[in-house]
Amino acid sequence: MFAFSELRIPVIAAPMAGGPSTPELVAAVAEAGGTGFLAAGYKSPETLREQIERLRGDVPVFGVNLFVPGEPSDRGEAVAAYLEELRGEAERYAAKLPQPDPSDRDRFEEKLDLLEREPVPIVSFTFGAPSPAAVERLHRVGTHVVASVTTVEEARRAEHNGADTLTVQGSEAGGHRATFHVDTPDDEVSTLELLVRVRADTELPLLAAGGISDGTDIANALRAGATAVQLGTAYLRCPEAGTNGAHKDALIDPRFTETAVTRAFSGRNARGLRNRFIDEHDATAPAAYPEVNQLTKPLRAAAAAQADQDGLALWAGTGYREAGDDPAARITARLWEEAGSPVPGDFARS
Ligand SMILES: Cc1cc2nc3c(=O)[nH]c(=O)nc-3n(C[C@H](O)[C@H](O)[C@H](O)COP(=O)(O)O)c2cc1C
Repeated sequence: MFAFSELRIPVIAAPMAGGPSTPELVAAVAEAGGTGFLAAGYKSPETLREQIERLRGDVPVFGVNLFVPGEPSDRGEAVAAYLEELRGEAERYAAKLPQPDPSDRDRFEEKLDLLEREPVPIVSFTFGAPSPAAVERLHRVGTHVVASVTTVEEARRAEHNGADTLTVQGSEAGGHRATFHVDTPDDEVSTLELLVRVRADTELPLLAAGGISDGTDIANALRAGATAVQLGTAYLRCPEAGTNGAHKDALIDPRFTETAVTRAFSGRNARGLRNRFIDEHDATAPAAYPEVNQLTKPLRAAAAAQADQDGLALWAGTGYREAGDDPAARITARLWEEAGSPVPGDFARS
């Protein structure tokens, strides 16, 4: 089975659902000596399979990331109130708000079946620990299992369920927080601090994710015990990334001056560039996923069609100002050179 300590360069292109992660991005980072993840979230099993097939054969090591579905929420009233609040947005973008469906599981079981039938080297999970049964199914076909965690308690649960490696995601991270529960507040614990806490509690290999944007960040994470680092925002503006053009532009637009963690777009906490939509809806958005995500989907699609950055989820980590537009292989090699090619910390095991 694959081990992250085998990577020539311990740098990983993080899974980024909604467009940015592409087979081309994964292949480019793998070519440079790292590896990367395809993002299965929001994607049909058919499209996921096509993307996997584009990598299979050419790229020996790559991963697929899945969203673990939560229990259906009973936040019907809060969701209905938020739907009413969003009517003005629907008018603004000439979009139709859907009836939310709390039972939607993003076809998780079908994707897991696919990954068992047609195995890939690595599968990672976010929004919850994979069940022991899911881990066993993947182990049986030789797949390395990774779980994203945001607290020591989540790390313990993931290890208990059989994960081989943990992605330790700190508060600086762009996109969704990996919290197991939708209503967990953002505790603002940094990647390095969380890494130290989790390192002290487990011997599993750890991947550090969140706010890693230069060589010093990489060296610090490896010295603190990470086996590899996982970068999202740093690759968002690469030519290989499928990031929407308005989103790419916003990352270098001086109009956007900070990131914020918000539930306004999906009902789950996520970090993105602070824009009008966040300012107007952050305070009132309920902790209800996937319902809020479903409600805002047509609004975001219409905003994207109009290149209106104030209605888009401009997911970005705190290091967004460092995100360059060079090819991903060049960014990977440069970051590793900047880091001074350190050896992973004394505690890192694989
Ligand atoms: C646009 C975007 C989409 C993301 N989608 C996913 C996803 O599908 N699955 C996941 O586990 N994490 C997702 N994340 C989080 C990343 O995997 C990673 O934890 C994060 O980007 C690391 O922080 P950084 O952006 O500061 O490098 C996403 C992040 C971004 C910026």
